[in-house]
Amino acid sequence: MEIKELLDRLEQKNRDATEGGGADKIIKQHEAGKLTARERIYMLLDKGSFVEIDRFKAHRCTDFGMEEQKYPGDGVVTGYGLIHGKQTFVFAQDFTVLGGSLSLAHSEKICKVMKMAMKVGAPVIGMSDSGGARIQEGVNSLAGYADIFLQNVMASGVVPQITAIMGPSAGGAVYSPALTDWIFMVEKTSHMFITGPEVIKSVTGEVVGKEELGGAMAHNSVSGVAHFAAPDDKTCLEKIRELMTFLPQNNMEEASIMATDDDPMRIDENLRNIVPADPNQPYDIRDVICSSMDNNYFFEVQEHYGKNIVVGFARVEGKSVGIIANQPAVMAGCLDINASIKGARFVRFCDAFNIPLIIYEDVPGFLPGTNQEHGGIIKHGAKLIYAFCEATVPRITIITRKAYGGAYCVMSSKHIRGDINLAYPTAEIAVMGAAGAVNIIFRNEIKNAEDPAAERKNLIDDYREKFANPYKAAELGYIDAVIDPAETRPKIVEALRMLKNKRDTNPPKKHGNIPL
Ligand code: HXC
Repeated sequence: MEIKELLDRLEQKNRDATEGGGADKIIKQHEAGKLTARERIYMLLDKGSFVEIDRFKAHRCTDFGMEEQKYPGDGVVTGYGLIHGKQTFVFAQDFTVLGGSLSLAHSEKICKVMKMAMKVGAPVIGMSDSGGARIQEGVNSLAGYADIFLQNVMASGVVPQITAIMGPSAGGAVYSPALTDWIFMVEKTSHMFITGPEVIKSVTGEVVGKEELGGAMAHNSVSGVAHFAAPDDKTCLEKIRELMTFLPQNNMEEASIMATDDDPMRIDENLRNIVPADPNQPYDIRDVICSSMDNNYFFEVQEHYGKNIVVGFARVEGKSVGIIANQPAVMAGCLDINASIKGARFVRFCDAFNIPLIIYEDVPGFLPGTNQEHGGIIKHGAKLIYAFCEATVPRITIITRKAYGGAYCVMSSKHIRGDINLAYPTAEIAVMGAAGAVNIIFRNEIKNAEDPAAERKNLIDDYREKFANPYKAAELGYIDAVIDPAETRPKIVEALRMLKNKRDTNPPKKHGNIPL
């Protein structure tokens, strides 16, 4: 054959491949409010940077007439490209081809890009839109899922892994996303569940809609499975691009520095008034976070879940930092099961990827109650302790107000390798609040006093004077400095500069045994 004919043939094959499941299916996809797999990839990556691989790969199934149903690429578009100029590997399931269902060939394509990403040390972003295991392939499709799970786990902590759920994600198909670092969900068009509404109804009789069961908000605010929700595909992909700016390419690198004109030594006198004098009055810790970060900007993660702890990314002198903060505006900022798990996972991600941690602490303790005890607050709270104890990245803790009881120990205290621990003059570092402490240790004195109420008040004042301040802890060296709140940003800057070359290690081991 002449080269011209060969090139024509190639062009035709390329055209067929890029049409996915055909024009009708693409129209249906758009009518459902979803972009196609290719449109998603083009929108996610820097313009013109996408390089496709395995465009012609096809399934090998011959059962149920499948030999007649071959589509080049087999329902997933894979390859690599750039995000903000940095190498990134991608795969996007194509719902227009057999419902984006997963065959062995389809999984081989995904595993191939994941393995390449690990070799070159680049993140992997998966866009999920699939009816799950390709039913006609039987156990081969299950093998395909298991192969992906293995790659997810091998890549965990080596390169960042991000999943966007942009359509159905049902059955075992939910587990690859769950093994990645970050899950984004698109509102109304994406759903995740192990068993869908029909199965639930037939097994338990429970009637539930798919949105309520596994929609974006169900997983962002109730289960905590997802970390971000977006109103549509475009916003979702833009948000992923933004998240990527805070992350390094792999566990051996650091995130890129973003130039900023924000003065590192900027003083903010407003901070002197943000933390109320009354220890029971709420305030929004995000005001303190924003004030001390570059350009007052904070990229919050999991904002709808476990709101009594706030986590997310920001920058100091252009460098990425992870923020973890008790939120006095919600449940007085106490630690409960959800907050502990949310915090622990975030700390571990930052530690795995060399992102220093800034901890803002105002915590009255762990939430009491049967629900919490029977729900396992002991083991879940232990996750947060474990995560902080093993973290070797630079850690700066700022106690703005309460640091009571076990929660004082947990929130990156000096004792568990906090590097620089600062406190506002409003800090109260004690086993518990003054009133609670007095009720326990002076029960008899109060009962026997001539005027029990006056005696109680005196004792509370006395206890507060002794312990409800940062000076006892500072005397013991558990707090490195008591600072003027207005100077929070310069103090963080100084500490991060000093910690730039911090090296710390954990003892050699196969792996630890985090309380799961
Ligand atoms: C093969 C599938 C498929 C699948 C969908 N299709 N899911 N083909 N295997 N798993 C095909 C449909 O036959 C249809 O083909 C096309 O994709 C589009 O599907 P529709 O049903 O028309 O679309 P929609 O109405 O939007 O419904 C989407 C859906 C539904 C909710 C995903 O298709 C569905 O419920 N699919 C089955 C889901 C499921 O039970 N999967 C197995 C889960 S178990 P045509 O030719 O008509 O266009 C699993 C185990 C993994 O995944 C375990 C790993 C450990």
